[in-house]
Amino acid sequence: MTDTGKRRILVTSALPYINGVKHLGNLAGSMLPADVFARFQRLRGHDVLYICATDEHGTPAELAAQAAGVSVRDYCNEQFRIQKDAGDGFELSYDYFGRSSGEENARLTQHFAHVLEEHGLIEERNMRQVYSVDDGRFLPDRYVEGTCPHCDFEKARGDQCDNCGRLLDPVDLIDPYSAVSGSKNVEIRETLHLFLLQSKMQDTIRAWVEKSTDWPPLARSIALKWLDEGLRDRAITRDLSWGVPVTNADGSIREGFENKVFYVWFDAPVEYIGATEEWAKAKGEPDLWRSWWRTDEGADDVEYVQFMGKDNVAFHTVSFPVTILGSEEPWKLVDRLKAFNWVTWYGGKFSTSNKRGVFMDQALDLLPADYWRWYLIANAPEGSDAAFTWEGFQASINSDLANVLGNFVNRITKYCASKFDGQLPATGNAGEAEAWITEELQTRLPQLVEHYENMEFRKAAAETRAIWAAGNEYLTKAEPWVKYKTDVDAAAVGVRTGLNLAALFGIIAQPVIPEAAGMILDALGIPDENRTLTPESLKDVPALLDALPHGLAITPPDVLFRKIEDDQVAEWTERFGGEG
Ligand code: 2FM
Ligand code: ZN
Repeated sequence: MTDTGKRRILVTSALPYINGVKHLGNLAGSMLPADVFARFQRLRGHDVLYICATDEHGTPAELAAQAAGVSVRDYCNEQFRIQKDAGDGFELSYDYFGRSSGEENARLTQHFAHVLEEHGLIEERNMRQVYSVDDGRFLPDRYVEGTCPHCDFEKARGDQCDNCGRLLDPVDLIDPYSAVSGSKNVEIRETLHLFLLQSKMQDTIRAWVEKSTDWPPLARSIALKWLDEGLRDRAITRDLSWGVPVTNADGSIREGFENKVFYVWFDAPVEYIGATEEWAKAKGEPDLWRSWWRTDEGADDVEYVQFMGKDNVAFHTVSFPVTILGSEEPWKLVDRLKAFNWVTWYGGKFSTSNKRGVFMDQALDLLPADYWRWYLIANAPEGSDAAFTWEGFQASINSDLANVLGNFVNRITKYCASKFDGQLPATGNAGEAEAWITEELQTRLPQLVEHYENMEFRKAAAETRAIWAAGNEYLTKAEPWVKYKTDVDAAAVGVRTGLNLAALFGIIAQPVIPEAAGMILDALGIPDENRTLTPESLKDVPALLDALPHGLAITPPDVLFRKIEDDQVAEWTERFGGEG
């Protein structure tokens, strides 16, 4: 933190695999909460850098390109555009959205491999791998499928079983076959790979995790579970052509690794740094990334927060820290790591082929981003998995956004337009109802800030809604429409306070529903510099309730939220699946 109290906060969300647009569950478990957190911290006045990128290497990209009949490079170029557009459509406020296939990542990945080897943490080993005679190639990870040795699921992928979730070694699959050709003519052959000796880092990593006491509980418990099981050395190269080449320190290709590249999970997290470098270059200040990542060049005061689904935690709490700590170089490590459970589709899996679930691009064809953002944050899968249901979605939008927030803003702005010539009334003195709402806000605003600081998104959304609901209760107590008949000044104070509340509601809505919040704040003519949530701006609640200039011209905003109708729910259930 600087002397002015301004913090430097680096935010990253797990890099989405390049293949295919992500579904709402993927969005809810990493990119969306990261965005909400980044927006909140910017409104607090802090210096935030939110970085994400597409995760482009590995077998899923190769297989998808093959299926589409295009080169991997072309496939990635196209998919990157699609994912970038979907992110923009959802108002994900990345400072930079990069690509792990860029040169920065390759150079950094190779650099880490070289220093890790110098420190005795990488060695060459022969390993047994599935080889497809008909395809004339080794079949790493998802290139091989077969029956899971743990649960007998017949379509387990070489790296992980989708049924029981266990990580697998392709050679352990029962009845393996090639995912490329379907051929069962496969055998186990020896092949040379680089191994990262994670076992040597067990104590260092445990000491670091144990010190990280302010991690949210889910991430911490997963990390400790992996450590309890003992860190295993693992191959960090693969028999593939698409990926970061394995080089010597002089840049030449390492002997014996001509047809191999680094494993996607070795280079992907390095892209957090790589994408920051891309960002700095794009800004025309190519060294700027260093002050975010090198603790010897200014990053010692950075707070680094990562967001991800629970399946990614081991890679971020164990594998990537092995790379960073093993390098013995002054790189910034994650300070707080927020992990999420799954969003399910009515308790089951999202699936394109079975028409179950909504994907990011489809969602925006149905409704504006804010609707989805609100529901997914208010029902974030924090304590446990959370089921998306159309009925839950409809109820939440109609109640929270349309009734509680939308109606409030409409009612008060329209009333001002009809009874006070669209000018913020200046007369009347605060009374009991104003004292009540003041007290409510004095308790609730600090709670809201605390929930965000703790990255408890459900609680933050619930508190936001509770503040909006308190506004409605205030109007019921203040009754400007009743008072107007006998005492215009008494009505005036209610309208003035109500309009100031509308402004405050817009301000606190910004992290979650930025577009609608912007419409409210525009309608009330709030200048950008006053749209903040700084400690300074929230300190004096009575001043907040009389902040808008008296006489200000008020134009009621267009309809902020349309209710979701039953026939829409019926149509969407038919199209995207529902119960059962
Ligand atoms: O699970 C995933 O979607 C991975 N692509 C996440 C990678 S996160 C990071 F380390 F790059
Ligand atoms: Zn299984």
